[in-house]
Amino acid sequence: MVILSSHVKNEVLEWRRSFVNINDSINLAACSQGALLKSVKKAFSKYQADQIEFGNPWDIWQQKVEELRSLIGKLINASKNEIAILPSVSASFSSLLSSIDFCKNDQIITTDLEYPTTNFISLAQKYRGVETVTVRNKNGIVSSSDYESNITDKTRLGTVIHVSSRNGTKFDLKEFTDILHQHGSYAYVDAYQSLGVLPVNVKNLNIDFLSSGTLKWLLGASGTAFLYAREEVAEKLHPTDIGWFSQQDPFQFGTEKLQYADGALRFQSGTWSVPSIYASIEGIKKILEIGQNKITRRIETLTSIVFDELTKNGFTVNTPESPENRGGIIAFEVSNPMKIEKLLRDKYKIFTSARGINLRISPHFYNTEEEVLKTMDALVEIRNKSL
Ligand SMILES: Cc1ncc(COP(=O)(O)O)c(C=O)c1O
Repeated sequence: MVILSSHVKNEVLEWRRSFVNINDSINLAACSQGALLKSVKKAFSKYQADQIEFGNPWDIWQQKVEELRSLIGKLINASKNEIAILPSVSASFSSLLSSIDFCKNDQIITTDLEYPTTNFISLAQKYRGVETVTVRNKNGIVSSSDYESNITDKTRLGTVIHVSSRNGTKFDLKEFTDILHQHGSYAYVDAYQSLGVLPVNVKNLNIDFLSSGTLKWLLGASGTAFLYAREEVAEKLHPTDIGWFSQQDPFQFGTEKLQYADGALRFQSGTWSVPSIYASIEGIKKILEIGQNKITRRIETLTSIVFDELTKNGFTVNTPESPENRGGIIAFEVSNPMKIEKLLRDKYKIFTSARGINLRISPHFYNTEEEVLKTMDALVEIRNKSL
């Protein structure tokens, strides 16, 4: 039985008031889509209201993009100039790779715990003569020594996923970025499964490039992601996967020359998904309002309960046991993950996320201990009754 102090309980209940219909279901799928904030719902309406009132309010839309860049900068300790807004993590990474002046036989080092988009985009560079080296995990973990032993003098860029979508394993970013830099390579981080769960300070971690979307733990919406590019590095790069918002003056009709915008803006593409930007601003504001350290502690409490209950009930958990080595995802084996995800949703109104051989439970700050325990009861019932 989980005993909560009344102070913590009241605080969680207060947080829950910010969400739409939070008591009608149990949302443990933040690794896929966070719960809906009332402010996010309102932001979508505001987008429509602005269109009705002002027709084509590009000036307001631009202000929203700028506001989002500032908020993301605050979230990861970067300057606004180091943030580009793009429609997806895939688009961000593609634009980044297009800017690296690879020579024939240069290498990218990656791992098999990355999100597949990172592997696909890296592998596609073979048409530019680039080889991708994929370091395989051993028992769900890629050690920094295995990673380092695969780096050669041809390695130009290494990718590190902060928290793996596949099994919830957390990488020690500083260890990996230091190794990459010692070998003269750029370090790219996919933080889609960690931002909103764990504080990330790009300066302390010495990260060159980082990308994330806002859909999951940042409580935003699909269609908005960003690329952080360290200012000194960005200025030297000339991406070819671009659009009009990558240039100093996007309105240069008939232009015969390129003039890249300053800093990270050079990685931008065309028109953003503006309704999603309105929404994403509100999601990030909520994360900053509650405080990243507080959220980390809360998620750690909940994931520890999930881990202990799953183990007690005989499930095979594929996420590392130590909270030090994981983020907000607990991945465990069930007979048919897609079927169980659907059953939990349709019969119990519990939202989880299937991935490969695993079902993933990913609690956020708004979840309660009672919700976690109810989910365990449902899982045990499904297994015992062979539903
Ligand atoms: C860790 C991680 N990286 C990248 C992606 C892909 O992001 P996008 O669809 O924005 O390209 C996902 C999507 O779920 C993800 O979980």
